[in-house]
Amino acid sequence: MRGWGLLVLSLHVLSCLVSGVASGRTSSYVRTEFPSTDIPLESEWFAIPKGYNAPQQVHITQGDYDGKAVIVSWVTPEEPGPSEVFYGKEKLYDQKAEGTTTNYTFYDYKSGYIHHCLVDGLEYNTKYYYKIGSGNSAREFWFETPPAIDPDASYTFGIIGDLGQTFNSLSTLQHYEKTGGQTVLFVGDLSYADRYEHNDGIRWDSWGRFVEHSTAYQPWIWNTGNHEIEYRPDLGETSVFKPYLHRYMTPYLASKSSSPMWYAVRRASAHIIVLSSYSPFVKYTPQWLWLKNEFKRVDREKTPWLIVLMHSPMYNSNEAHYMEGESMRAAFEKWFVKYKVDLVFAGHVHAYERSYRISNVNYNITSGNRYPVPDKSAPVYITVGDGGNQEGLASRFYNPQPDYSAFREASYGHSVLQLKNRTHAIYQWNRNDDGNPVPADTVMFHNQYCTRRRRLKKNHLHLEDLEDLISLL
Ligand SMILES: [Fe+2]
Repeated sequence: MRGWGLLVLSLHVLSCLVSGVASGRTSSYVRTEFPSTDIPLESEWFAIPKGYNAPQQVHITQGDYDGKAVIVSWVTPEEPGPSEVFYGKEKLYDQKAEGTTTNYTFYDYKSGYIHHCLVDGLEYNTKYYYKIGSGNSAREFWFETPPAIDPDASYTFGIIGDLGQTFNSLSTLQHYEKTGGQTVLFVGDLSYADRYEHNDGIRWDSWGRFVEHSTAYQPWIWNTGNHEIEYRPDLGETSVFKPYLHRYMTPYLASKSSSPMWYAVRRASAHIIVLSSYSPFVKYTPQWLWLKNEFKRVDREKTPWLIVLMHSPMYNSNEAHYMEGESMRAAFEKWFVKYKVDLVFAGHVHAYERSYRISNVNYNITSGNRYPVPDKSAPVYITVGDGGNQEGLASRFYNPQPDYSAFREASYGHSVLQLKNRTHAIYQWNRNDDGNPVPADTVMFHNQYCTRRRRLKKNHLHLEDLEDLISLL
């Protein structure tokens, strides 16, 4: 980002630094949007790769706790074929990893052969090429490993939620790919295949091909949403999350989790905790017990940035899905404050909203204290469920805007979080129809653990922050 772009961003961040401590803002921006209908199956965006039984729907995710492994997944449509990944630092592909194959049925749908292959023992900060499939049907890709775990390791995450497979979804993907994001934190609701008759798995396949342009080349850290539950007793399908669990592997064992639905990874300077909004989480449940222990394993001296992902937001002033995250807030918010979580990203609501640092941990059903209050130890809550799926935007916010809500807008988009060092990160939310990085919401975050507290005085420009920002850019 250079010249005018840098200046525009600087001024924008500057204005946010000034205005961000004042009252919240509801954007009046209205954009022209594509119809909220899925892209036709015959579209080029879902093209089946050439060659008999060619691997398709290729996606990678982190394969261990610390970023020295990836899980490579793909589907072969006709027959299992080899479940092997050939890889190396050059296109000689001098190393090989062996994977496993699975498949499933869902009512009258029969999946292809789904391969998952752990590629481990990788070096940090290294580009690897990999090849899957055989003969004329072989396909080649690459990925880059993250820097070693280090408190000052800079790294850029994209955050995408509720993506689906409409032209708005495509716009989100294309805009994200321009940002330089290195890994996607996905906050649930992937394909929306469950919106089709009999939860048609063909739309899982088309979605896998749709996102391959990104998912084959950089890890997407997966999380589930309500559209992954797929509980259909009327069809005889009572095994929840069945398609998702067959298709999307997570490294849950590496973080001592007992379920692929909740887990943690460490990447560069970040410790990322993935929670399942639709699995049991109240006291004494496996997820609750796991999270209790995982917070104790967080080492802010090594990974100062502590990030939590979930699907249903705890703080949401949109009429859509209002209060649905309240039960998880009641279960976990006190830990988020105790452990000084930096950021909580959620989806589910098809709009964008960012909170101030607030908490409601003093809420007591007997004695009152029912309002969220400013809390310097609390995370910022960000809802970014605006990926662009067929359900359309959630455009009705409650008014007046609550004190805890800093900015909200009903547009499609995605977020980018640039961790610069142990103390500072630049965050921006980009709405889709800004063709270039001209963010609609930009904030510089100070790390909750490493940064000395500098309280911005209301409506006063803080020169230290501007100096920090310019030095980071
Ligand atoms: Fe959702």
